Amino acid sequence: MKKIEVGILGATGMVGQRFVSLLEHHPWFEIAWLAASERSAGKTYAEACNWRVRDPMPRAVRDFPVHECKPGKAPQLVFSSLDSKVAGEVEKEFARTGHVVVSNSSNHRMDADVPLLIPEVNPDHLTLVRTQRKERGWKGMIITNPNCTTIGLVMSLAPLEKTFGLEKVLMTSMQAVSGAGYPGVPTLDILGNVIPHIAGEEEKVERETLKLLGKLSGGQVKPGDFVVSAHCNRVPVEDGHTESISVALRTKATVEDLIAAWRKFRSRPQELQLPSAPKHPIIVKDEPDRPQPKFDIHAENGMAAVVGRVRPCPVLQFKYTALSHNTIRGAAGAALLNAELMKAEGYLD
Ligand SMILES: NC(=O)c1ccc[n+]([C@@H]2O[C@H](COP(=O)([O-])OP(=O)(O)OC[C@H]3O[C@@H](n4cnc5c(N)ncnc54)[C@H](OP(=O)(O)O)[C@@H]3O)[C@@H](O)[C@H]2O)c1
Repeated sequence: MKKIEVGILGATGMVGQRFVSLLEHHPWFEIAWLAASERSAGKTYAEACNWRVRDPMPRAVRDFPVHECKPGKAPQLVFSSLDSKVAGEVEKEFARTGHVVVSNSSNHRMDADVPLLIPEVNPDHLTLVRTQRKERGWKGMIITNPNCTTIGLVMSLAPLEKTFGLEKVLMTSMQAVSGAGYPGVPTLDILGNVIPHIAGEEEKVERETLKLLGKLSGGQVKPGDFVVSAHCNRVPVEDGHTESISVALRTKATVEDLIAAWRKFRSRPQELQLPSAPKHPIIVKDEPDRPQPKFDIHAENGMAAVVGRVRPCPVLQFKYTALSHNTIRGAAGAALLNAELMKAEGYLD
C-alpha cells in the first residue's frame, strides 16, 4: 500500500515531537510537511526543534523545512498539536480549504459538530463530521482527541458505564510536567512541590468526559447522565498522569466484576487491528502499589490505560488508581489512532 502523506502543525512542540517519533516507522502514514510558528518557519526541523524525546530525532526529518501554518502546500491529512492560543483559527482555515485536521488542541473539542473521539470508547461519534461538513460548507473536517487527563479516566470508565451504568465520578489527578508543553513549568515552581491548580483543566475533564460517554442520537451527542468532579494537580513527574478515582455505579457489582469488565474490554480498534491499537486497552495490575509512572507508562507502547488498587469506597462505591502516558495515549498516539480509524472506516478516501 502506498503510504498516505501527512503534515504536522506545531511539529516542534512536545506533542509535535511525539508525532514525528511515532510516525517514523508507521505502516500507513509518512511525514511530508512540517509547520510551526514564525519563530521556526524557514529553519530546518533540526535547527528549529529542541528535541526532547528519548529516541533520536528521525534522520529523514532533520533537514525538512519548517513552514508557516498556512494551508496550500500541506498534504490533505494534517495532525495538529498547535498551541491553543492559535489552534482555533488555524485549524478552521485548514478544514475550510479541504484538509482533514486531526487535532490535539482543546479549541474545537466541545463544538457540537466536532467528534471528540477515543476509538475504543465512542467510534460512532465519527459520523458527526457529516453534519460538520454539511453545515459549515467545508471540504475538509476537524476531529479531536480529548485532554490528556480525560483520556485515562474515560478509558477506565467506559466499560463500567457500559456494564453497570455510572452515577457519580470523583477524580484527583497527579499530572506530569510534560503535560504543560516545553519549556513548561519553571523548575523552582515544581521541584519538591505539588501545584494544586492547572488553569482550565478541571472544567475540561468534567465537560469532555460527559461528551465522550454521551449517546449519539439524531446527529447530536446527548451528554452522559452522571456527575463528574475533578481535582487536578501538577507533580514533579516527567511523563504520565496518575489519577485517584472513586465511582458510584447504577447497578450492584463487586470488585471482581469491575476487574473482569476491564480485562475483557476490547473495541473497534482491536477488531480492526489498527496499527497503533493496544491489544489490551486496559491493563489491570494486581500489585498493591501499582500503577506507577516510573514502571507502567510504556505498557502497550504507551497506548494502554493501566489501572490498579481497586477496592470498596465508603463514600461512593469503588475506588481505584489509573495511569496513562500523557503525550502518547493522551496526545499524539490518540490522534494517530483516530486517523487510523478514519482510514479504516473510509473517511480518508
Ligand atoms: N503536552 C501534553 O501532554 C498535551 C496533551 C494533550 C493535548 N495537548 C495540547 O496539544 C497542543 C500542543 O501542546 P504541547 O505540549 O506540544 O505545546 P508546546 O510544546 O508549547 O508546542 C506548541 C507548538 O505550537 C507552535 N506554536 C506556538 N505559537 C504558534 C503560533 N503563533 N503560530 C503557529 N504555531 C505556533 C509551537 O511552535 P514554535 O516551536 O515555533 O514556537 C510548537 O510547535 C496544545 O494545544 C496542548 O493543550 C498537550
